[in-house]
Amino acid sequence: MKNKIKKLLILCSGGDAPGMNAAIRAVVRTALYHGIEVYGVENGYCGLMQQHIIQFQNDSVANCIQRGGTILKTGRCPEFLDQSVRAKCIEYLKKENFDAMIVLGGDGTFRGANLLAQEDDIKVIGIPCTIDNDITGTDYCIGFDTARTTALDAIDKVRDTAYSLDRNFMVEVMGRATGHIAIDVGIAGGAEYILIPEFPITTEQLVKKIKQKKRQKLTSIIVVAEADKPNHSIELAKQLKALSGIEYKVCILGHTQRGGTPTVKDRKIASIMGVKAVEALLAGHSQKMIAEQNGTLTLTEFPDPNHATRFVTSKELLNLNEIICETI
Ligand code: F6P
Repeated sequence: MKNKIKKLLILCSGGDAPGMNAAIRAVVRTALYHGIEVYGVENGYCGLMQQHIIQFQNDSVANCIQRGGTILKTGRCPEFLDQSVRAKCIEYLKKENFDAMIVLGGDGTFRGANLLAQEDDIKVIGIPCTIDNDITGTDYCIGFDTARTTALDAIDKVRDTAYSLDRNFMVEVMGRATGHIAIDVGIAGGAEYILIPEFPITTEQLVKKIKQKKRQKLTSIIVVAEADKPNHSIELAKQLKALSGIEYKVCILGHTQRGGTPTVKDRKIASIMGVKAVEALLAGHSQKMIAEQNGTLTLTEFPDPNHATRFVTSKELLNLNEIICETI
């Protein structure tokens, strides 16, 4: 038997991710199909505090599936960790008779939703969205494919100019704590080295590798994960120059990776996750996340806040890349 959900709220929080709009569209239209009133919170949890709520109709989400970012806007809202702030939000949610929420984002987003569900009887379901693709419990997060496609496109462009002038480049890609983007675009972009936070190497070790005879190419690209130190590749390039005499030009891709038209993969998985999230609520579930596990979409627990990050755990792909970038 279907659980009665009458009034649903959608919220995006944390960093935006291409594909969020496809998920919002799917949630809105699935909810309306099932006779549920559906509303959106603008600007994440801070928007909930300020009661920035809009009502959605079927046509409110027309023409957004192809747009990057999020039509609801998002934000990071540390104030929401304060229990008294949440109590005011709960008062508002009760007064307005909201009985369910679907939240789009990452670990911090789910933590906020979990707290709300513990302190109120509102039902919450999460949809994993982050270009870093690093949420524990799911093999895939909305936005990752678009981000790596954007980053790879940039690397290919850098390679054209690097080749033409016999130059070396260091390309810094996003990934706050993990190297998922760096590994994928490093391999696909033919990088000489891929530097990720999970398997750090010293500058001296890197110089040793660069100096190996069989690696002395006219052009080379090192892909570096941002690793919570945005722009750190500028310093790294200086150190490399000082220790090896080899010059690396630096190209930092930054927030370009967060925007842009979502790929087929992101639009498709976001659409399906959006439908499944509404169906999960109707089946009576709460405090759960839609996840991809071994190629199948399923419902799983919110990540444990102490182990919320899914790291790269094997060196296999880094080792493999060392072999395929050799020239002699
Ligand atoms: O989590 C996604 C991400 O883009 C990370 O790769 C990056 O470290 C961080 O967000 C940047 O956050 P902000 O947009 O708040 O600077």
